[in-house]
Amino acid sequence: MLQGKTAVITGAAGDLGNAMARQLAQKGAHVVMWDIVPRAEAAEAIKRVKEHDAAAEYAEVDVRDRATVDEAVAGLAGVDIVCSNAGIVEAQPFLELAQENWQNHLDINLTGCFNVCQAVTRKMVAAGTKGRLILTSSWVGSIPWPEIAAYTVSKAGVNMLVRQMARELATHGILVNAVAPGIVDAGLAGRQLREEPQYAARVAKVIPLVEPGNPEEIAAAVVYLASPQTAYMTGSILTLDGGCSLFQFDG
Ligand SMILES: NC(=O)c1ccc[n+]([C@@H]2O[C@H](COP(=O)([O-])OP(=O)(O)OC[C@H]3O[C@@H](n4cnc5c(N)ncnc54)[C@H](O)[C@@H]3O)[C@@H](O)[C@H]2O)c1
Repeated sequence: MLQGKTAVITGAAGDLGNAMARQLAQKGAHVVMWDIVPRAEAAEAIKRVKEHDAAAEYAEVDVRDRATVDEAVAGLAGVDIVCSNAGIVEAQPFLELAQENWQNHLDINLTGCFNVCQAVTRKMVAAGTKGRLILTSSWVGSIPWPEIAAYTVSKAGVNMLVRQMARELATHGILVNAVAPGIVDAGLAGRQLREEPQYAARVAKVIPLVEPGNPEEIAAAVVYLASPQTAYMTGSILTLDGGCSLFQFDG
């Protein structure tokens, strides 16, 4: 389905990004993985993708660093699909929230998306490529959740960046959408579930479909947003949250 397409995935050494890279490769895309994790530490993640795309590439790219991003984009022969997925979360109650924590979230989760998406779309427009941008948002981009103000605000920004880019890039045939995962038992939330008892206790009460999600479900939605089936879809936030963002009540 995606034969002949090149897909760049940021945060590709992480759980969700790696599942996206694997599934896009399974559908025939040539995959370019970017992450700040040194190549040696990402060896297992790279190997899992290469099982589906033997020519898959990996580069250390910090999405905060515009010069590095521009250089990495310039080095691509072409690009059709971008999964702007790199992200962090570090919980701190609002009254204790350090300015550095706030800034880190905005720099990585939001400005990182701006850097990658702008650099890539400039290349797409110059080449006449009708590409796809798929950003990783979160169900908490529109719902407050305790102790992660910097994260929720960064994801709210991602949602508007998606809609803004969708509006401006439509005339170039570039489609921009997001996946908004709920609580996934992997990656960022997986670590919080294991390491933060107060987080696990809250999670136990808020998923209408009871169980946390998994990375493969999120990656399947990304494949859908990269596929010919969604050629008329732009500016959408596709939510896969087990009903978390529905009104919460007991019973
Ligand atoms: N796990 C969840 O429940 C969940 C829920 C909603 C949204 N998300 C979003 O999914 C995305 C992926 O997160 P994950 O859960 O797979 O976590 P993860 O920690 O497994 O993956 C995130 C990856 O981003 C990379 N990264 C961090 N800073 C970077 C930078 N400056 N430049 C390049 N790469 C950088 C990390 O090294 C890591 O490999 C994030 O945007 C996150 O906000 C996750």
